[in-house]
Amino acid sequence: MNAVTVTALGAALGAQVDCGDLRRLDDKAFGQVYRALLDHLVIRIRGQQLSDPDLIAFGKRLGTLDFAPLAKTGKERARTHPEIVIVSNVMENGEAIGVLRDAEVVWHSDNSYRDRPLSYSALYSLEIPPKGGNTGFANMYLALETLDPALRAKIEGRTLKHDMTYNSAGDLREGFQPVNDVRDAPGPSHPIIRTHAETGCNALYLGRRPNAYINGYSVEESEALLEALWSHATQEHFTWHHVWQPGDLLIWDNRCVMHHRDPFDGGYRRVMHRIQCAGDVPALKPEGKIGHPRAKVAA
Ligand code: SIN
Repeated sequence: MNAVTVTALGAALGAQVDCGDLRRLDDKAFGQVYRALLDHLVIRIRGQQLSDPDLIAFGKRLGTLDFAPLAKTGKERARTHPEIVIVSNVMENGEAIGVLRDAEVVWHSDNSYRDRPLSYSALYSLEIPPKGGNTGFANMYLALETLDPALRAKIEGRTLKHDMTYNSAGDLREGFQPVNDVRDAPGPSHPIIRTHAETGCNALYLGRRPNAYINGYSVEESEALLEALWSHATQEHFTWHHVWQPGDLLIWDNRCVMHHRDPFDGGYRRVMHRIQCAGDVPALKPEGKIGHPRAKVAA
């Protein structure tokens, strides 16, 4: 029987979960870890020693694993395990071993540019530079609940077009052409406010800023609204930033969280292995509610 301790971190979201070795977590303890994820949006579990098969086995307990096919830019080495996306700046034999380089990774929610975006992502750290490369998270329940009512009225019931052309480090994906008009960018439209299928609470769902477009508005009106929404949603007091150590596993819920990575000195190695779970089709449901426990922080 594993003892599980959950300690809230930061003001807006995040919890440290102490549960011992993840490879030996019994079902009751796993249920507590999962509950912590729904309650705190992102959880940190430290001191792990996970092989790729261990990470895959743990990921399968979170949900159906997704292969994130568009994480590829075509410039990196073929994956050893199709479920594992390597996030790294390391080059071997002239070839990148992973994606996202040492660049800043802009605020985003994973794979929002797909019809069924991801639910959970779990990132496991193997090698970390001495500084930089911290990962920040922003609470989108809180962003919605504190949104100016006039701004909210302008997006209520609207959908947002999500572009799949570029990854979050700004790299063009394999097989895509640069976008000239945001209205023609390839990618699905999803409700700007979505109801979380498990908590039943509504959250702002912005995906990523580049090439986004709010359907039904002129490009100029859409740009002005998106500027206002993004500057609101990424305010510092909606965020928590993680400073990595090797052996950390971070799990976040893309349905209610956006994340961002600071750049780092590419002279140092950073190697992370990520698994991700398939999610549902985003929807705003009539029964969607406000009042997630972590949306109560004073803005
Ligand atoms: C990601 O966006 O999945 C990568 C985050 C990170 O490298 O910290």
